[in-house]
Amino acid sequence: MSSATAAKTAAAEAVVSLISDGMMLGLGTGSTTALALEALGARIRSEGLSVAGVPTSFAAERLARQHGIPLTTLDAAERLHLAMDGADEVDDAFRLIKGRGAAHTREKIVAAQADRFVVLVDPSKMVDTLGTRMPLPVEVVPMAAGPVERVLQRLGAKPELRMGEKKDGPVVTDQGFWVIDAHFDAITDPAAVNRTLNDTPGVLDHGLFLGLATDVLIGQADGSVAHRTV
Ligand code: 5RP
Repeated sequence: MSSATAAKTAAAEAVVSLISDGMMLGLGTGSTTALALEALGARIRSEGLSVAGVPTSFAAERLARQHGIPLTTLDAAERLHLAMDGADEVDDAFRLIKGRGAAHTREKIVAAQADRFVVLVDPSKMVDTLGTRMPLPVEVVPMAAGPVERVLQRLGAKPELRMGEKKDGPVVTDQGFWVIDAHFDAITDPAAVNRTLNDTPGVLDHGLFLGLATDVLIGQADGSVAHRTV
């Protein structure tokens, strides 16, 4: 197992140990959450744990079914006790960039409904300044791609329409929209970028998660976990 996978596994197992009987959960998307869903499925089988989860993507939904995790919806579950998800970047103020898997819109909806939003990372995801290592994904209505790219340029980013692999043309999200990856040198004022994008017609949502994470579990290659809370 690579050291990154060992660290992700440690964070994944740590979040599953926070889950108790009767909880309504948010089920994130990505390789780290996939490990948590596997571990949660194992607890459901071995302990008869009774939980249900709202998936944040088609990918999470398929994995949850595979691991025998009962599914629910935000209509049925008034409040989620705990949502778990990975991240692409996390800063010291628990601000995140998410969306490498283009699932950030549903991930943000689900995280916002949770009493606890637990972020699972390996140490490589911790950054001093957001936007220094990963682009900021922005989900757009296709006809708004040009105007949104111009807004991103004015914010100082280089926009790049995300293209499919094993599919010609743009990545199409679970909602049927496109993703523009905004390459910043650094996002020095995340709140201002957040406000501008939230106010831009044609932007469905973007990967800046501000004020949502309550816990960050930083898995280490030796299997230990640093648990930070707000
Ligand atoms: C998907 C995401 C993922 O949670 C994020 O990209 C982290 O993924 P991984 O756990 O594979 O590193 O935001 O949209």
